[in-house]
Amino acid sequence: MMTPRAPGSRELLRFLTCGSVDDGKSTLIGRLLFDSQLIFEDTLAAITRDSRKHGTTGEEVDLALLVDGLEAERQQGITIDVAYRFFATPRRSFIVADTPGHEQYTRNMATGASGASLAVILIDARKGVLTQTRRHSYICSLLGIRDIVVAVNKIDLVNFSEDTFDRIVGDYVTFAAGLGFRSVVPIPLSARYGDNVAARSGNTPWYHGPSLIEHLEGVDVTQDLASRPFRFPVQWVNRPDADFRGFAGTIASGRIAPGDQVVVAASGKATRIARIVTADGDLAAAEAGQAVTLTLTDEVDVARGDILVRPAERPPVADQFAAHLLWMDEEPMLPGRSYMMRIGNIWTPCSVTSIRHRVDVNTLEEHAARRLALNEIGFCNFSAGQAVPLDPYAENRATGAFILVDRFTNRTAGAGMVAFPLRRATNIHQERFTVDKAARAALSGNAPMVLWFTGLSGSGKSTIANIVEQALHRAGRQTYTLDGDNVRHGLCRDLGFTAEDRVENIRRVGEVAKLMVDAGLVVLCSFISPFRAERRMVREMLAEGEFLEIFVDTPIEACMARDPKGLYAKARAGQIRNFTGIDSPYEPPEAPELLLRTADRSPEACAEEVLAALRARGVQC
Ligand code: ADX
Repeated sequence: MMTPRAPGSRELLRFLTCGSVDDGKSTLIGRLLFDSQLIFEDTLAAITRDSRKHGTTGEEVDLALLVDGLEAERQQGITIDVAYRFFATPRRSFIVADTPGHEQYTRNMATGASGASLAVILIDARKGVLTQTRRHSYICSLLGIRDIVVAVNKIDLVNFSEDTFDRIVGDYVTFAAGLGFRSVVPIPLSARYGDNVAARSGNTPWYHGPSLIEHLEGVDVTQDLASRPFRFPVQWVNRPDADFRGFAGTIASGRIAPGDQVVVAASGKATRIARIVTADGDLAAAEAGQAVTLTLTDEVDVARGDILVRPAERPPVADQFAAHLLWMDEEPMLPGRSYMMRIGNIWTPCSVTSIRHRVDVNTLEEHAARRLALNEIGFCNFSAGQAVPLDPYAENRATGAFILVDRFTNRTAGAGMVAFPLRRATNIHQERFTVDKAARAALSGNAPMVLWFTGLSGSGKSTIANIVEQALHRAGRQTYTLDGDNVRHGLCRDLGFTAEDRVENIRRVGEVAKLMVDAGLVVLCSFISPFRAERRMVREMLAEGEFLEIFVDTPIEACMARDPKGLYAKARAGQIRNFTGIDSPYEPPEAPELLLRTADRSPEACAEEVLAALRARGVQC
């Protein structure tokens, strides 16, 4: 992203403010803009008019109106989760991320904090350190912010009391001791009246520190990215003609010069930098933050998503790792579900294999958890579809951060911070056996595949599967049926019917079905399998054409009327919880290979339809 700069500005400081509306966050931002004289005269006139009408400050200018104007935009349906505001003083220019303090805080804070190097945590002097103060501080710490300003606001409302200030600061420092901050600077201030915002206030003679703006102007937040290990995530391969092959991207950290040795992080292939090409000509050296095109002395295999590093500073490369995950989607994160992960310039499927613990962001306590809901944070184990370079986030915010994207909605669902690689599968290699799937299938004359029956409980899945299996058997096909009720007595007997247990149920069944296909069988799977994500996951475990999704489409009214096991009656009476179709959802397939409408047809007729589809695919039955 381009970094905006005010004309004549020096070094830019990006920071965010944390606090709720009541803490005076809007007023403080308004005050910063106002005091740094960047408010245009006409805006100011409008605000003065408005604050007479709506303001809460009598004749004073209500600075909060400056910022709360955002709310109006939001109500018009313009989604602005985080607003970036720009202001400058003669000494520095600033971008402040203004994150709304409502219940979406985690997500908005995460967005606002990415790229910010300092946080101003607002505390209402009358209230002291609150749950939300702890929550905001923890999230800042998790997101790698190391410099904190504790703005003890509304100090005028406690009569500019030094004791109150000291007590709040004492509480905060004790709490924040374990959060790894580099600097914590407390400032007593009144955003409304401007005490200690731009200039030191005569109302707090006992305070000898800087005003907020003085501190922001002077604070050293340089991360010195250039002196860190060299990391160059390749954004695209630039190959305009046969003579030129360059790798374009932005240097995430470190520096480089022509002649330097580099390796491709994942493959370990070694080469040297030939040239550093830019639109303004070649460079003799380049460092963190610069967008360049690198050419190499050898024709090594480098693709988009690869990272160039120095041989002595290679990051771990693994497909399993532990990371903090901040969940930002309305749909909960369920372990075992497949998401798309973007790390650097790599996209790969990824799932959480287990939640080590969930962090209560209010108390920082660690709890066991089976899922993560919106705004929750967990420390999790992950499994990715390919091995990826993994820098711990604490060491590199650029290469240690990733996002998870919902595969159906394409929403950014989670933000991750890598902690460490897991050694799980590193010393395990796939053995190749001579007798393989094709050999087994040839012997049995089978076309190994999965017939996946999905539908509500009582829809007729197992009945139809049973008839199909008999016909296949008669025709000499080798089959096996995996059935929901049956596997739940063995393989899946530890699982119930919560969403996360259903995900795990289908994951296990999918793995078993895959082994059975490898064994050369026709596998009939009869599971409600209510979530499209897991049905798709099983489909993707298998080869093209090996997965036949059969939607047994029976309206819930018909299932209830049949109610072969009396379960609907119990569910409606509240004796069974999480019952599909009653208080647990069913997501119908959008493009099944076969749709069986059972309402006006016999199970035999439905089974015949399945067999016809198999014959059309060359299965002898
Ligand atoms: S799935 O959702 O994980 O695919 P599965 O097919 O294994 O479910 O098991 C469904 C069977 O479990 C149903 O046919 C029914 O007999 C029984 N069952 C018991 N409790 C529930 C429930 N809460 N929801 C759905 N099915 C249930």
